[in-house]
Amino acid sequence: MRLFTVSVLLPLISAALARHFTEPPPDALVVKPGSSVAGHFSSLGEAVNSLPADESSQVVFVYPGTYIGQVNVSRPGPVKIIGYTKNSFDFTQNTVTLVHNASLASGAGSDDLTGTLRVLSSNVSLFNLDIRNDFGVAVSNGQAIALSGQGDQMGVYACRLFSYQDTLYTNVGNHVFLKSYIEGAVDYIFGRHSIAYFEGNTIASKGSGCITASGRQLNDTGIYVFNNNKIIAANDAFPNVTGNVFLGRPWGDFARVVFKNTFIPAPLNKTIWSIWNPGDERIDSILFAEYNSLGSGVADAQRANFSTVLTRDQAAQYTLASILPNYRDWVDVDYLH
Ligand SMILES: *[C@@H]1O[C@H](CO)[C@@H](O)[C@H](O)[C@H]1NC(C)=O
Ligand SMILES: *[C@@H]1O[C@H](CO)[C@@H](O)[C@H](O)[C@H]1NC(C)=O
Ligand SMILES: *[C@@H]1O[C@H](CO)[C@@H](O)[C@H](O)[C@H]1NC(C)=O
Ligand SMILES: *[C@@H]1O[C@H](CO)[C@@H](O)[C@H](O)[C@H]1NC(C)=O
Ligand SMILES: *[C@@H]1O[C@H](CO)[C@@H](O)[C@H](O)[C@H]1NC(C)=O
Ligand SMILES: *[C@@H]1O[C@H](CO)[C@@H](O)[C@H](O)[C@H]1NC(C)=O
Ligand SMILES: *[C@@H]1O[C@H](CO)[C@@H](O)[C@H](O)[C@H]1NC(C)=O
Repeated sequence: MRLFTVSVLLPLISAALARHFTEPPPDALVVKPGSSVAGHFSSLGEAVNSLPADESSQVVFVYPGTYIGQVNVSRPGPVKIIGYTKNSFDFTQNTVTLVHNASLASGAGSDDLTGTLRVLSSNVSLFNLDIRNDFGVAVSNGQAIALSGQGDQMGVYACRLFSYQDTLYTNVGNHVFLKSYIEGAVDYIFGRHSIAYFEGNTIASKGSGCITASGRQLNDTGIYVFNNNKIIAANDAFPNVTGNVFLGRPWGDFARVVFKNTFIPAPLNKTIWSIWNPGDERIDSILFAEYNSLGSGVADAQRANFSTVLTRDQAAQYTLASILPNYRDWVDVDYLH
């Protein structure tokens, strides 16, 4: 009887907690293709470029649609970009897609410059946006970033990021990724300097390759901490995804990546973690650590000798509060848990 009551009540409770973004907040700039209302913008790029280059806080509200082309966010003050949604905690209900097609192979001058959405300034938060780099696969120079994070205090909430190689460039600053979807194959969560925290995300591998490529080059504060995420094979994954996915490889000699409480149905390689390349292993000063990985993807693990399985006490040192002590000042905590 008790169980029955709980299972009936849970959906009601989550429905009650669902948050809608179906109307622009007061003072938001509005992006709405085909709108005849004066002041509405037809593209996100135009709206962002029209924001005042000052310290004021600004909000951009985006109505459903597919928006083609790169967007750079670089004004000094805080910016919130909100995609229309009937449930702001559920990325499957996102209605706004940003899409661009660029890679090193197609001539962008740097990884960052391939990005569909480039966040170059601090205090930017993104809600309910699908961000795609549709370049696809290349034999070489296939780096094609969906989201490039180069500013401090970047929050990514219930967004979906899609590419193949280098999807998410979490490079500079303090970043959080909560209740989002991140898809790619090769080194698709990577960067040099950031402190990045991931919780409640679905991480989806589309083909053979490493999920993370931490480029930490010094024993500095940089770290990626993943807690309570799920790693799957993408729905349209290439067959070579099986047995050829790794949690990470060290782009930098001091790579530091911790996965806690991860549910892993994706068919990982038995060694779970990878060297950088044969002859250039980069494994002497890294921390590649797990605690409580679960699921068929790790059932037969024979972990690489340069990786660490943390004890409960060791794992307890890697929390949102320990790596980002002032997170309550800037993180939308409604997206935690
Ligand atoms: C974004 O910034 C880069 C570098 O400054 C520039 O080359 C590119 O044209 C910008 N993109 C847009 C859409 O303005
Ligand atoms: C972020 O915004 C807060 C206020 O909203 C401000 O105090 C802080 O200086 C900003 N941080 C950066 C790095 O711009
Ligand atoms: C992206 O651009 C490349 C050329 O640089 C082209 O071959 C490819 O078909 C494009 N992909 C999409 C999805 O438009
Ligand atoms: C995995 O398959 C994709 C699609 O066929 C291919 O482009 C890629 O090179 C393959 N990866 C490896 C490491 O063979
Ligand atoms: C696991 O990775 C190693 C090293 O890349 C590779 O030789 C091996 O074939 C992979 N295992 C499977 C089952 O694909
Ligand atoms: C990094 O620095 C910390 C102290 O800040 C020290 O405890 C640790 O041993 C250093 N790690 C490496 C690999 O040098
Ligand atoms: C540990 O793994 C590395 C990389 O695969 C390998 O080169 C090394 O020989 C291994 N060390 C031991 C003691 O097995």
